[in-house]
Amino acid sequence: MEIPDTLIERLRKARCVAVLTGAGVSAESGVPTFRNAQTGLWARYDPGELASPAAFRANPALVWQWYAYRRSLVAAAEPNPGHIALAELERRIADFTLITQNVDGLHHRAGSQNVVELHGNLNRYRCFADDEPVELTTVPQDAPPPCPRCGGLVRPDVVWFGELLPPRAWRVAVAAARRCELFLCVGTSGVVHPAADLPLIARSAGAYTVEINIAPGALNGLLDLHLYAPSGHMLPALAAAAFGNAP
Ligand code: OAD
Repeated sequence: MEIPDTLIERLRKARCVAVLTGAGVSAESGVPTFRNAQTGLWARYDPGELASPAAFRANPALVWQWYAYRRSLVAAAEPNPGHIALAELERRIADFTLITQNVDGLHHRAGSQNVVELHGNLNRYRCFADDEPVELTTVPQDAPPPCPRCGGLVRPDVVWFGELLPPRAWRVAVAAARRCELFLCVGTSGVVHPAADLPLIARSAGAYTVEINIAPGALNGLLDLHLYAPSGHMLPALAAAAFGNAP
């Protein structure tokens, strides 16, 4: 797919860029997207019903095992050319904020430094009772261990449905959306709020807003430009068109 010259020019000249990524960016690493059918043992569960405080309260072992399964998928995955291109853009652009809804840590593994994890990280833990961080040296597979401080249950440090985003991460994300000249929205269905508001916040603050996705979805027609192609192809092509190939 042809990348419009106007986008290449804007990226080349921009001093401040913000990017919002979703599960689609990790799809080419073999990490299933959230709204994809689950496979194998987990096929009969709706992720929306596992990722909630109520689900954890009702069946902590089931939710813990699902996260152990997702953690194993992520451990076996490698960053793909889309992740790597975003890390490269960060090195080229003075003020670059990568905001992600992904909990897989693949942006960090690809070399990105300034990553705002809006929905937390699968490989961090906190106490379900008091929300304080918990360090685990060994991670059990079958059931959540007790919190070493209070004996409550340990949970993954991710945001579940019905929960607020980490306030600092949200503030940093909104500030980046407001001050950027160019906002890229990559591989997200744009249906989960408030993350999905960020491209619209950026657009109303004057940024040029671009969606990269394999198919039209909830953001279709709402941004300045929509590029329908896989991010593992489009992001490296865009980075190369603006800055040449990485050394
Ligand atoms: P979704 O699973 O909702 O959407 C994935 C998006 O990626 C879809 O729009 C796909 O069309 C697109 N996509 C798939 N493969 C792609 C590729 N190779 N290149 C580009 N796009 C591709 O995932 P998210 O939008 O990330 O939240 O979901 C947002 C949040 O909903 C998740 O963070 C999670 C979930 O509920 C929480 O857990 C709080």
